Amino acid sequence: MTVAAPTFDLVVVANRLPVDRVVDTDGNNTWQRSPGGLVTALESVMRGRDAAWVGWAGEPGPAPAPFREEGIHLQPVGLSHLEIEEYYEGFSNDTLWPIYHDVIVPATFHRAWWSTYRVVNHRFAQAVADVAAPGATIWVHDYQLQLVPAMVRAIRPDVRIGWFNHIPFPPVELFSQLPWRRALVEGLLGADYLGFQRVADAENFLRTCRRMLHMTTRGDTVTFRGVVDGSAGGEGARETERTVRASAIPISVDFHGLEALARTPEVIARAVEIRKSLGSPETLLLGVDRLDYTKGIGHRLKAYEELLRDKAIAAPGTTLVQVASPSRERVEAYRHLRTEVEATVGRINGEFSAIGEPAVHYLHQSYPRDEMAALFLAADVMLVTPLRDGMNLVAKEYISCRYDLGGALVLSEFAGAWHELHQAYVCNPHDIEGLKHTIMAAIQAPADQRRRRMKALRRRVSDHDVQRWASRYLEALALAPDKPDRPDRHLR
Ligand code: G6P
Repeated sequence: MTVAAPTFDLVVVANRLPVDRVVDTDGNNTWQRSPGGLVTALESVMRGRDAAWVGWAGEPGPAPAPFREEGIHLQPVGLSHLEIEEYYEGFSNDTLWPIYHDVIVPATFHRAWWSTYRVVNHRFAQAVADVAAPGATIWVHDYQLQLVPAMVRAIRPDVRIGWFNHIPFPPVELFSQLPWRRALVEGLLGADYLGFQRVADAENFLRTCRRMLHMTTRGDTVTFRGVVDGSAGGEGARETERTVRASAIPISVDFHGLEALARTPEVIARAVEIRKSLGSPETLLLGVDRLDYTKGIGHRLKAYEELLRDKAIAAPGTTLVQVASPSRERVEAYRHLRTEVEATVGRINGEFSAIGEPAVHYLHQSYPRDEMAALFLAADVMLVTPLRDGMNLVAKEYISCRYDLGGALVLSEFAGAWHELHQAYVCNPHDIEGLKHTIMAAIQAPADQRRRRMKALRRRVSDHDVQRWASRYLEALALAPDKPDRPDRHLR
């Protein structure tokens, strides 16, 4: 007797599964929760629900068998070496990523990458369709899976589909460069609800529908008339009219979980130890980023170097710790960035350090959550200076950990987070002189001013935490314009 595969009422689909494979001390393979932002964000709303997560396990080869981890059904999708190269490193991170981040580095266009992106998106869509219960809610995440909404709808017209973009959505002038722009938009319009980080991102999307594809938009909705390939559902191609809502719903962090972690005696003791091992500096500056050209690490280092040269600050009294976690290391732009950042760190340390007292502590590593919390607690000034960033969860994590109302946040106006966190010390990272001033203002601010600002920032993040974000998202998805795939007429 064959046992029917289990199905679920809530299916999350993202490029990555929320776990990484690790080999334990006995040489056994196990899975460990990955430290990324999305994982932390969603785990809190999935636990205790009848939920599945579809995603790539992070290694080349056939998909491992489905398994359960902390109460969630995990359904792996396999990617070959070539698919990792063309779908993940290529189209997702060397075509879409630069276009969606203001073309800080040029985007690369390859037709073969696009065709692999479609093949892989279809594989994800099929995996979703296989585990979705009748009438299930499907929540698709991010730019790697923009064709999945329409592909799932073609197979399973009974489900409700939402998509959330974790990164910016570009202005129509940049989006138009993509040779596959129409297919990408039509892929998204298979959803009922599209969520974005900022109002400007949702507006960019709606403007693209209107200007480039001549669709009708009304408020935050767009009406799409198109031909749907119904073959997977056993019907012929047919024309449909659907209304899709697109609006801003900024993501957040697990405020209370992070605060509780930061309050543990172990984390507090570790924060003290970190400061001590850095030579007990008067001012500890901290940067924590994936090593990505969108993060403005070079601009930050330049400002720091000039402040040292101007003698506005001096090491080791003032010290910078820069955590740069390894990312997308096979993509050329990322390799180039690493060489540049490491040369700059070397130059600063060569000029401004004494033996045993480096001016920059550069850590090209990833750290577990408790070590990050200790670093946040130890830092006097947190530098979040991206050139473009969908949200930047590090800014919100820092705030969540500062239950002591200590610390100051320097925040770029080009991070989505800035739209909620106006009490931060705001900067334009392109303006090096301005950035230097802002860093100095944060260093020199009177303690009561810093406390006042931190209190306001904490109120915002505590009221708008990730649990609230997820329930608001699911509510918006449930209430999205209820015009299910209205067939106008069947085509032959
Ligand atoms: C950004 C994206 C995520 C992605 C993460 C890490 O936050 O929005 O979708 O998972 O970066 O990047 P990676 O390429 O390692 O998954």
